Amino acid sequence: MKNLNITSLLCAFLMGSLPLLQANNSTDSLTLPPKASQFVVNTDQIVAPIQPTMYGVFFEDINFGADGGLYAELVKNRSFEFAEPMMGWEQPASDRFSMNDKSGFAVPVKYADPGANKNYLNVKVNAATGYRLVNYGFKGMGFKEGLRYDFSVIAKQQSGATTLHVELLDENGKVLATTSVALSGKDWKEYTASLKPSARAMKGKLNIRFEGKGVVDLDMVSLFPSDTWKGRPKGMRADLVQLLADMKPGFLRFPGGCIVEGRTLAQRYQWKKTVGDINDRELLINRWNNEFAHRPAPDYFQTFGLGFFEYFQMAEDIGATPLPILSCGMACQFNTAELVPMDELEPYVQDALDLIEFANGPVTSPWGKLRSDMGHPAPFNMKMIGVGNEQWGPEYIVRYKEFEKAIKAKYPEMVIVSGSGPFPDGEMFEYGWEELKSMNAEIVDEHYYRSPQWFLENANRYDSYDRKGPKIFAGEYAAQSVAIASPDNKNNWDCALAEAAYMTGLERNADVVWLTSYAPLFAHAEGWQWTPDLIWFNNLEAYGTPNYYVQKLFAVNAGTQLLKLTEDGKPVIGQSGLYATATLDEKTKEIVFKIVNASAFEQSFSISLAGKKTAATKGKLTVLANNDLNAMNSFDSPKNIFPTEKEVNFTGKALSLSVVPKSVNVLRVAYK
Ligand code: AHR
Repeated sequence: MKNLNITSLLCAFLMGSLPLLQANNSTDSLTLPPKASQFVVNTDQIVAPIQPTMYGVFFEDINFGADGGLYAELVKNRSFEFAEPMMGWEQPASDRFSMNDKSGFAVPVKYADPGANKNYLNVKVNAATGYRLVNYGFKGMGFKEGLRYDFSVIAKQQSGATTLHVELLDENGKVLATTSVALSGKDWKEYTASLKPSARAMKGKLNIRFEGKGVVDLDMVSLFPSDTWKGRPKGMRADLVQLLADMKPGFLRFPGGCIVEGRTLAQRYQWKKTVGDINDRELLINRWNNEFAHRPAPDYFQTFGLGFFEYFQMAEDIGATPLPILSCGMACQFNTAELVPMDELEPYVQDALDLIEFANGPVTSPWGKLRSDMGHPAPFNMKMIGVGNEQWGPEYIVRYKEFEKAIKAKYPEMVIVSGSGPFPDGEMFEYGWEELKSMNAEIVDEHYYRSPQWFLENANRYDSYDRKGPKIFAGEYAAQSVAIASPDNKNNWDCALAEAAYMTGLERNADVVWLTSYAPLFAHAEGWQWTPDLIWFNNLEAYGTPNYYVQKLFAVNAGTQLLKLTEDGKPVIGQSGLYATATLDEKTKEIVFKIVNASAFEQSFSISLAGKKTAATKGKLTVLANNDLNAMNSFDSPKNIFPTEKEVNFTGKALSLSVVPKSVNVLRVAYK
């Protein structure tokens, strides 16, 4: 399995199922409207608790999800660490090949004794005016009219006297805001200034005009909007975090995905390099930088301004249980498949133990102290840890065992998430599952990127799983409108509806399915590598896809206990194109029904309630629907597919309802 390109392997894998992938909605074949259904629910029969972690979010720095996305830094390559250290920067008025350029020139220089931060920029300003440096941000910089933007730079004036005129320009070069920073002294110092643009710009840039001859050194040139999440300086984009918070996710898995593994072991995600002072977090190439020849992203690196502390903090902010995943000593098996020898695995295992100490340890412990020094003395209350991402084969099992042994020895209460590889079936999957089951693994992660048809047809996937075996983390899934990794995949209603139908199957099996998450989460409209994605954003705006609203509807209406819902004694899994579940919400004293109508017909049904909790007279019906399976949301029409709510009234013990074609419906009725 060595040296395989992820696209070719995934495509090859999928060739056999392409006809399925291209099939239409299964219920299109229904020619006659189905007859009214009769569902039965006994409110006294609790099947299982719904885990608070049932619906969560999976974050990976793919599609410029972190740098250029969630992490609100606007300057790309702020510390000149990219493989090409001037990438992202231009010197428009300068001839960078001439030391005698009349305005000035800049060269990246290595620190004499480099730590994590290796380079700085040496600028020779040859003329009193005229030399400038421009940073174009991540596909431009988004500026909001009247908002404060905070500029900072670490600099020293080696000779002469230089003032930096810091300007925010719009796409046409018009100055929207300006401020000045006079440099002084030969020691590295941080300079800060603030600016307020006079107009909005979607693709603005940062322009630094140098006034006064001299030689200056610059590093960590930074620009942040002030309206970050919770107003934290150098923080995260509030609109993006808000979209996550609105989902009320049960957990936050981070930092990926394949990014955890790296193309090589050296390029794996190492959490210890992502904590502490941001100036000292060592940059790493993003593994999605050159993964897809059809979507090259040569400027994709990880500054780790968004690192493990920030992930834990975000999880806490949005009420989600943190679920970090770590490398298990195996580089991505689609790439180099490099393995750390077993007798060199110890530092990897130690990383896991230290991470638990970082998250939960007392402030007197070395890693607990770092967490405290970073501003969070209280523990982050981490309860789960993932070992490896999409690993497979005996190499995984043998490494996983070492992690399990060490983690359980020191932290017996820590729940470990293991993985079953990249595919939801087949040889690798079967092998991994068998091994993990025989070891009594606690939670196994499964991934499926399949056609909408597959999702409709597999809503019974977990019905046959061993109730006494490991619990399930449906950790990455999304219906693919064309094929996995195809750049033509769309976040259309066909996919979202099929996912909703499938999710009733996850929920109906809440006794074994404990965590679920759609993937990937974010995509920059111009910087993406992988589609479909849950949330799309540009430099200023973001919108939730129909898939997002499906996820959100399920998450905010999860309920606390699963009830049994049947028709003719059987669960409702696609009969007449209907999929349905029922849960109790003990917190609000409501019964929550989820009814997905994947058919092209309006459908009527009644729900007979047996048991004590039946005194319903009215309820709230939330509907997400569209007649066009190709319909999508967009920046121009972010709520094209959006939930609507209405009140419904009932008489008697049976609840009668009809649901519109191609719809996801959540009905909440109060019980006494
Ligand atoms: O979600 C995109 C990628 O798909 C993830 O990084 C990986 O785990 C899976 O193959």
